[in-house]
Amino acid sequence: MAIDKNLIDQFIKVTTKAALSSSYLVGKKDKIAADKAAVDSMRSELNKMNIQGEIVIGEGELDEAPMLYIGEKVGNKNGPELDIAVDPLEGTNFAANNLPGALSVIAISEKNNLLNAPETYMEKISTRVTEKNVIDLDYSVKKNISNLSDYLNKNPENITACILDRQRHTKIIDELKQLKVNLKLIIDGDVSGALLVTDNKYNVDIFLGIGGGPEGVLAASALDSFGCSFQGRFLFETDEDKFRAKKMGINDLNKKYELNEIVSGDSIFCATGITSGDLVSGIEIKGNEFISETLVTHKSSGLKKVIKQKQNI
Ligand code: FBP
Repeated sequence: MAIDKNLIDQFIKVTTKAALSSSYLVGKKDKIAADKAAVDSMRSELNKMNIQGEIVIGEGELDEAPMLYIGEKVGNKNGPELDIAVDPLEGTNFAANNLPGALSVIAISEKNNLLNAPETYMEKISTRVTEKNVIDLDYSVKKNISNLSDYLNKNPENITACILDRQRHTKIIDELKQLKVNLKLIIDGDVSGALLVTDNKYNVDIFLGIGGGPEGVLAASALDSFGCSFQGRFLFETDEDKFRAKKMGINDLNKKYELNEIVSGDSIFCATGITSGDLVSGIEIKGNEFISETLVTHKSSGLKKVIKQKQNI
């Protein structure tokens, strides 16, 4: 069954209002306040909707997050049963420091079709290649780049890889440099980073590296609608992480997840810009009006576009 198209506009409103709320705190050097503004707004808008939603990815577990915690029911208890993943403020540093790329993000699937991701890191890889055995999380960087180069009929010098600029990626980055691959190093925001493979206009051929698990699931839902590929594997550092994962139903802690194991069936994804970035422009306030841009996808209807809106505050 498909998710009702009429819900799309309402979910756009959810991320748009969260982005607007957070935008007042852009550049205030307070990531907690900027996040809280987005969380409060998102929760209040979700609770106005005619849905029976459950937060499967949110601000954390009940003991660490009073709002939008994993397992929280949202909506007015009527309407379709949906799984909801939220990142009300993706890129807290971007918002706090007025840097490009802060987003408010949500992904929705029908019940039981979105992976419940624990708050741990995830090893990720994404490209536009959907054929099996071309790009794989288990292949070496060299093999993936060589296969991608053959597949795209492009020399490695003409391939661009996007990766978070982190010390943990030193080895991968060095290998990419040796292969003469161009780098797009991002300082944060790997939901956006992963989505740069969706369109040639971003000039990114492969996204890889380790980032947040929840961010991986959110990106995967949009990548699914764009017909791109994604694989992910959680990384658990502590025994507590492992315990929590088992509690969430993850038995094989080393499992490599294919895209259709992360999101299946119909889905909606919305990402509204708080500050301007690669995907969308940020909130612009002009008198009593504001302009917003939201990247929206809806799998079953094939919708994939940036929607620009001008509204009263
Ligand atoms: P926040 O918005 O929660 O600060 O996350 C930003 C982010 O860059 C994510 O996009 C990414 O998945 C994660 O942090 C990477 O984590 P780390 O900063 O620990 O490398």
